[in-house]
Amino acid sequence: MTRTILIVGASRGIGLGLAREFAGRGWRVIATERSRSDALHALGKVEVRQMDVTDPATFAGFDEPLDALIVNAGIMGASHQSAEQASADEVAEVMMANAFGPAHLAKALLPRLRDGGTLAFTTSLMGSIEDSSGGFELYRTSKCAQNMLAKGIAVQQANPRGIAVLSLHPGWVQTDMGGPGAKVTVEESARGLADLVENADGGYRYVDYTGKDLPF
Ligand SMILES: NC(=O)c1ccc[n+]([C@@H]2O[C@H](COP(=O)([O-])OP(=O)(O)OC[C@H]3O[C@@H](n4cnc5c(N)ncnc54)[C@H](OP(=O)(O)O)[C@@H]3O)[C@@H](O)[C@H]2O)c1
Repeated sequence: MTRTILIVGASRGIGLGLAREFAGRGWRVIATERSRSDALHALGKVEVRQMDVTDPATFAGFDEPLDALIVNAGIMGASHQSAEQASADEVAEVMMANAFGPAHLAKALLPRLRDGGTLAFTTSLMGSIEDSSGGFELYRTSKCAQNMLAKGIAVQQANPRGIAVLSLHPGWVQTDMGGPGAKVTVEESARGLADLVENADGGYRYVDYTGKDLPF
């Protein structure tokens, strides 16, 4: 049986790499863009939809049965990244895009995910309180909040149905966000992340693309 995955935030970077990787592994891939991504359409064997994690109207009507869902969308937030400079709008922007939007989408689509399936969020090691050396205050707090929301969804809604929840750290990856100096290629990261999604086994994990569990 062909398995179906929805990848949200696949116009470029890691999401685009995940769409290519899962299609290559024989999955039926539904992948989303906010505005037209020629790179995503060029993959060919991927069904493209339009979704914005901060706009529930774009995902409320999604009605395909899924084996897996990856909420990959994310932003850095305002370039100053600083608590003392952050406006209410800047805090709302990064929190909605990285934490509350992804959690809202995941909860809305959970009924579409089969029992025993996998729900994954692309988070970051920068969301770890234990690992933190400070800085990047907007981004770090939004990913930390995402981890909290993901764990809550795992315990309250997903795990009781045998659905695994993963908070995935993709590594420091060569994308628009990671920059050219990043250590990991999109292909390497996507391979590792896809292995984790394919082999997830109930419960909740905060884990990097190599399979290493991370500290909260
Ligand atoms: N690169 C790294 O080193 C690194 C490290 C740790 C974690 N991450 C995380 O990995 C994920 C992917 O990052 P990336 O490096 O591939 O970044 P990227 O190249 O900047 O791509 C970000 C993706 O998220 C989409 N997106 C942003 N806001 C969205 C929204 N409101 N609704 C739907 N889609 C939205 C973007 O769509 P548009 O094209 O429309 O903007 C794009 O497809 C992010 O969650 C990021 O925080 C990345």
